[in-house]
Amino acid sequence: MERKDIEKLVRERIEAELGRTGRREYIVAANWKMNMSAKSVRRFIGRLRETEIPAHLKAVIFPPFPYLHILQDMLRYDRITYGGQDVAKEESGAYTGEVSAAMLADCGCTYALIGHSERRSYYGDTPRITAGKAAAALDKGLTPVICIGESLEERRAGRYRDVLKGQLDAVYAGIGERMTGCVVAYEPVWAIGTGVIPGLSDIEETHGYIHGLLGTMAGNEGKTVPVLYGGSVKPDNIRDIASVRHVGGFLIGGASLDIESYTDILGLLSEG
Ligand code: PGA
Repeated sequence: MERKDIEKLVRERIEAELGRTGRREYIVAANWKMNMSAKSVRRFIGRLRETEIPAHLKAVIFPPFPYLHILQDMLRYDRITYGGQDVAKEESGAYTGEVSAAMLADCGCTYALIGHSERRSYYGDTPRITAGKAAAALDKGLTPVICIGESLEERRAGRYRDVLKGQLDAVYAGIGERMTGCVVAYEPVWAIGTGVIPGLSDIEETHGYIHGLLGTMAGNEGKTVPVLYGGSVKPDNIRDIASVRHVGGFLIGGASLDIESYTDILGLLSEG
């Protein structure tokens, strides 16, 4: 057995052991985007390792690719997991600039972010490409975190349900029942980096809708897929959003760059 397989096994055992907490569980994912430096990554992870993270919270870090190896070194045998912010849909070969799922797995990743709205809007990640990336990640044992979300115009026009369904359907067409091995992140595009979040009743309604779609796609198992909320999550609003039905965690951009605010969020979610 290779070292990385042993590490994965140890981590899974620890998680299985700790998972029996009876408390509502949340994934608290940090999407660092194109920020941080080697020095700030070391400082952040060093501090995070000293933080007590209760068993019902799963901290997941998405650093830029060049810093994955720092996390691999610092988080060996740790319960904190991490992943790539993107992944190639191709397996290997002449694809300059791309990073494959096998490479992410090699770096000890557990997750891969797929179809973030910035990838979709700036880098041409179409629904088909997004589906291909999800399949590539699953093939190498990574958990895809599939990002979906509507624009403000689509929300205002009342078309958000169709948009979200279209985005999920495209992935489902590529991976089928393996959808149950994914995480979904609902991120309204208009809430990303703006400081504006939807009303809690809108989050509840939309998460309920996504939950229902997953159930239709993959039955009861589909309903176990965690649906994260993302877009302007901050220590100020975390407890309110956490109280919303069907919210299985968070995908946090800006507020995850600073160790104080990230650990504040973990602390606020730890309180009863
Ligand atoms: P934000 O970003 O928390 O800065 O709004 C969230 C995201 O894009 O994942």
